[in-house]
Amino acid sequence: MAFVVAIDGPAGSGKGTVTKLVSEKLGLVNIDTGAMYRCVALKALRNDIKETDLEKLEELLENISIDMKREDGKLVVILDGEDVSEEIRTPKVDSCVAKYAAVGIVRSKITPLQRKMGETGKVIMEGRDIGTVVFPNANVKIYLDASVEERANRRYKQDVEKGINITYAEVLEEIKQRHKLETEREIAPLVQAEDAEYVDSSNLTIEQVVEKIIDIIKEKGYEC
Ligand code: DC
Repeated sequence: MAFVVAIDGPAGSGKGTVTKLVSEKLGLVNIDTGAMYRCVALKALRNDIKETDLEKLEELLENISIDMKREDGKLVVILDGEDVSEEIRTPKVDSCVAKYAAVGIVRSKITPLQRKMGETGKVIMEGRDIGTVVFPNANVKIYLDASVEERANRRYKQDVEKGINITYAEVLEEIKQRHKLETEREIAPLVQAEDAEYVDSSNLTIEQVVEKIIDIIKEKGYEC
């Protein structure tokens, strides 16, 4: 029987890092749902399709193929047969992905794919609407949060490590704008599910957050 752990929260809350570590420790399959929206945004950018051009977007969605696999512990994201793992995480995609993720036809395409991925096996799925829309009956729901300054700080460090030329002020502004779009959109906005456990990672180390989440998952009856 499937066992689903849903981890939702804003950009920079640490979901990606924490989910990966928890999945390794508990033997859960890790599914990064944001990567799927990033693929849609990248393909649209490459084809010069705006989020408002629904006709072209519909055609794009009909012909898109997204695959994800783990290789040596790293997530490899394949868009139409091409490895785009790095390209989907550039500031160019960062700054426009929320606009595409807010479009109804995009979500109608991606949500069923996510359900299918989670239907079998033991999975930990991270995103924005996993506990509210994709798997409202998930066995465990966690809302992972952090202050906006801390989230921007983490994203900024990641960008610098990747050699991306960006300032902290730019990252902070981008994170704020994205948060506004994600929480105020009409379809599947980012919101804490009523039955989700709230975890604030602002003043915790990664290890502490991982430990806390593993405790919650075990309390809900998960046995490795
Ligand atoms: O987690 P992330 O930053 O990689 O997510 C990329 C974008 O996709 C972000 O704007 C939020 C959106 N997203 C979403 O709307 N629903 C999800 N389940 C996951 C991500």
